[in-house]
Amino acid sequence: MFIRKRRGWEIPESRVTPEHLVFGRRAALGGLALGGAMALANPAPAAEEAFNPGLRNMRYRPGRDVTAERNATTYNNYYEFGTDKGIYRAAERLPLRPWTVQVDGLVDRPREYAIDDLLQAMPIEERVYRLRCVEAWSMVVPWSGFPLKALLDAVGPQSGAKYVRFETAALRGVMPGLRQSWYPWPYVEGCTLEEAANDLSFMVVGAYGKKLLPQNGAPLRVHQPWKYGFKAGKSLVRITLTAERPKSFWEAIQPQEYGFWANINPEVSHPRWSQASERVLGTGERVPTQLFNGYGEFVADLYAGLQQERLWA
Ligand code: MTE
Repeated sequence: MFIRKRRGWEIPESRVTPEHLVFGRRAALGGLALGGAMALANPAPAAEEAFNPGLRNMRYRPGRDVTAERNATTYNNYYEFGTDKGIYRAAERLPLRPWTVQVDGLVDRPREYAIDDLLQAMPIEERVYRLRCVEAWSMVVPWSGFPLKALLDAVGPQSGAKYVRFETAALRGVMPGLRQSWYPWPYVEGCTLEEAANDLSFMVVGAYGKKLLPQNGAPLRVHQPWKYGFKAGKSLVRITLTAERPKSFWEAIQPQEYGFWANINPEVSHPRWSQASERVLGTGERVPTQLFNGYGEFVADLYAGLQQERLWA
């Protein structure tokens, strides 16, 4: 069979951190009390009281320690602010309010959302997800956000809609990377409507119990944890449902290396390096990469019958 179905996280028991350490004791106890599906997230610190991180969804377990917040917020890819990993200071210049997100294309109810109206309208929850960059480093982050499906339901996809296109802000005044005119700005990513409607597809508005920081893609980014991190478009201003497959930023630059699907597969090397293992951000430990980043039981079915596609690049 072309697509192997794997159960659970398929990593040795010795690597699995006890749940109360990964999720926090309160959350683990809350999960029991609530029947295991959802648990109370740790309360946000006083300074962040305005932000509601949501209840933690216990369905998705990372099987690894959460990455130190400092690492996840100071080692970033955000080419609009520069090509090195230390763009977090430059990204502070991104003005996060007012911010609007246009949701349009083949939908019954196109709408331009003020970001705070969107946050009010969507069911916010917390999910601890893994992120595997195509460059072979990885991290585990407690993100807050809402299922992309909830937004799709709000706008009503039309029958001709097959794909979802995500567009990042392109603000010349504050994003020095945009001066590199050989890049095809704005940063665009995309997926099929079916992938977007999968429960794992998450729209991120916070991390570590706080509002999302600009370097991580504030005020709104997408995250599909079974795909390489470059699919996770940051600071989105427009989400469009289309009949045509959108051409993504990296695909436009280097189609041999970065394709539309970009599903994680340790057995398919990048043309210039192996994808068999990954470096854990913070500890530097090297661990085996997993098919679909370990999320195969939730997403492998999406690819039945698509063997002719370049699913792994
Ligand atoms: N989105 C935009 N707009 N610009 C980028 O350069 N980099 C991508 C993705 N989203 C990128 C982006 C890549 S390659 C990765 S691995 C992740 O963001 C990194 O997310 P992080 O910095 O929050 O870890």
